[in-house]
Amino acid sequence: MNSLFFELVYNVVMVMVAGKRGSVMTNIFGPTKMLDICDYIPLLRWAGFKGMEIDMENLQKIRDGFLQLLINEGRKQIGDSSSVEGKKTFVQALLSMQQAEPEYYTDEILKGLILPMFTAGTHTTALTMEWAMSLLLNHPNELGKVKEEIDSIVAPGKLLDDSDIQKLPYLRCVINETLRLYPVGPLLVPHLSSKDCSVGGFDIPAGTTLLVNAWAIQRDPKLWEEPEAFKPERFKGFERGYDGLKFLPFGIGRRACPGSGMAMRLMGLALGTFIQCFEWKREGHNLVDLDEFTGITLSKVKPLEALYRPRSSLTSLLSQL
Ligand code: HEM
Repeated sequence: MNSLFFELVYNVVMVMVAGKRGSVMTNIFGPTKMLDICDYIPLLRWAGFKGMEIDMENLQKIRDGFLQLLINEGRKQIGDSSSVEGKKTFVQALLSMQQAEPEYYTDEILKGLILPMFTAGTHTTALTMEWAMSLLLNHPNELGKVKEEIDSIVAPGKLLDDSDIQKLPYLRCVINETLRLYPVGPLLVPHLSSKDCSVGGFDIPAGTTLLVNAWAIQRDPKLWEEPEAFKPERFKGFERGYDGLKFLPFGIGRRACPGSGMAMRLMGLALGTFIQCFEWKREGHNLVDLDEFTGITLSKVKPLEALYRPRSSLTSLLSQL
C-alpha cells in the first residue's frame, strides 16, 4: 500500500504545483530523502557521516533541475489560460508574484517554496495513511464505524467529496489517533535556540539544537489513559489544540507544519474514499505487523499489504470511473 499511497499524494502535489500528473520520483523525493541524520546530530556532519553531505549536495542538484523545469514550463504557459479547473497552479501563482516583485521572487526563492511541497508533504502524508489503514485492519469494529458514518452522509451511488469531510467526525478521530500513536515526525524537526532560554527548568544556551520527542509525549501514561491502545473516541469533540502540549504531530507555534490543513483534508478524502468504495481485509488471520522502523521518520518495518475488492453497492459507479 505504501507505494500506492505515495503515488497518490505525489500526484495530488504535482497537480497543485504544475497542473499535471507525473512519474513518481522516488529517487529524489522518496522516503529516505527527507531529512539527514546530521540535522539531528550535527557532530556526525563534522565527521562526514557516510558521505551524507556530498550525497545531499548531489541530490539537491537533481532536485534543482527538476524544479527549474517546472518553473520554465509554467513560464511558457503564462498568457495561455492553462490552469487546473480555472484556478492557477502553485507555479503560476508564484510566477505572478515574481512579475510583481522580481527582485525578491527570484527563481531560487520560487524553488525554495516549491521544494517542501514534495519533500515535507508527500512521504509524511502517505506514511500516515499507511499507519491508519494498518490500524483499521487490526480493528474491524472501528473500520465498520467509519464505513457506517460515510454511508450515512453520502447518498447512494455518489462518491465522497471534499465537502463531505467535515461531516465525518469519526474518520477525523481515527486520523488523529493514528497521528498520536504514530507521528511520522517523531522528533519533529530540529530547532535551534536563537538566544539563552529556559525550558522546563533547564537552562539552554543560545545555539543549542533542541529536539522534541513527540512520540514519547503522545504515549506518556501521565498524559493519556491507556496510551498504547487504539481508541479514536478519545478525540471526540477535539477541534484544534489539545489542553496543554500533549498532542503535537504537526509541531506547535511559529514553525509548526504549514501543510497540516492540506494533509488532514487529503488523508480524510483518500482514506474515506478507499473505505467507501472497497471491502478491506488482512492477508490471512494474523494481525498486521505494527513494528516501527526507528529512524528520523516513523515508518513500518513491514510495509502494509492488504486485500481489497469493490463493495457490491459501488461496482457500477466504480466501473464508470
Ligand atoms: C501527515 C502529514 C504531515 C505531518 C505529520 C507533518 C509533520 C510536520 C512536522 C512535525 C513538522 C515540524 C514542526 C516543528 O518542528 O515544530 C513539519 C514541518 C513542515 N511541514 Fe509538515 N507534515 C505533514 C504534511 C505536510 C504537507 C502536506 C506539507 C506541504 C504541502 C508540509 C509542509 C511542511 C513544511 C514546509 C514544514 C516546515 C515548516 C517550518 O520550518 O517553518 N507538511 N511537518
